[in-house]
Amino acid sequence: MNQPKEYAESNDLTYRDVDDLIKEFPEEFKKMKGRIIDVGCGPGNITKGLLLPNVEKDAVIVVQESEIHFYLGADLCAAMVEYAKQHHEVKHRLSYIQLDIQTPELPENLIGQFDNAVSFYCLNWCRNTQLTMQNFYKLLRPGGKAIILMISHHMIFDVYAEQAKDAQFSTYMQDSNEIFPPHHGHPNAEEMLRKDLNEVGFKIQYCSNRWKSFTFRSWNALIDFMMSVNPFVKRMPDDLQEDYREDVEKRLKIGLPKKRSGNSDENSADFSISLLTAVFEKPLN
Ligand SMILES: C[S@@+](CC[C@H](N)C(=O)[O-])C[C@H]1O[C@@H](n2cnc3c(N)ncnc32)[C@H](O)[C@@H]1O
Repeated sequence: MNQPKEYAESNDLTYRDVDDLIKEFPEEFKKMKGRIIDVGCGPGNITKGLLLPNVEKDAVIVVQESEIHFYLGADLCAAMVEYAKQHHEVKHRLSYIQLDIQTPELPENLIGQFDNAVSFYCLNWCRNTQLTMQNFYKLLRPGGKAIILMISHHMIFDVYAEQAKDAQFSTYMQDSNEIFPPHHGHPNAEEMLRKDLNEVGFKIQYCSNRWKSFTFRSWNALIDFMMSVNPFVKRMPDDLQEDYREDVEKRLKIGLPKKRSGNSDENSADFSISLLTAVFEKPLN
């Protein structure tokens, strides 16, 4: 895969941040071997293009019917799994299955099967962090290690909260708080995650909550991206959709800080999110 561009959109954000994570913990990734599961792998491009080249060369990553031999990408969304299988499968090394990491009943054939688990930009979609961490615990064998990266705070959810109170849009956004990341708006996000990991029984090696910014080449590019992942606009009649887009833009502009010094491109838009990173291990006994 190519280096991420200086100005980028959508998937390049996750690419950059997973790339940064691998650079921050190179030894942890290099040591990953045996069977690895990538939870919430999405279309599979990062699993194949970034993860696979950075773990041990003989790490195996797959599923053959009920028997797991290899390195595995797993996602809730059937269409993502189908796409990933078609475009990013690697024979004998990498395959994909459908899995809800928030399920109260993890499939028996996955329990205790993995030496490592990773998850990037997925667990913020799971409201019950303790349940998802219990499932990570079950997936891993004793001594198995996990590395996760998830959004803790994203300004778009502040925008959704305001819009849900606006009579123009509220009908279509009744359930908006159901998609908020579980740590959004909590100043103690790191402690919350540490508590869940401890209570599940993990040994925490590293845990932090940090702000990162990302530059979109233009406001339009930023808003296009926000609208492409917006679940509410599709529910609105066509004539309201343009007003809604303008409302998103207006509210984001109010909330975003002035441009960082050093960024000379007047048209570009800087955007910050806060990310939880954690490295943790299932104890041997
Ligand atoms: C933003 S994408 C991230 C994809 C990929 N990890 C990356 O970094 O590009 C989030 C993915 O998490 C998946 N997801 C959301 N909830 C999930 C769940 N409960 N179990 C498994 N996957 C889930 C979504 O289907 C989506 O593909």
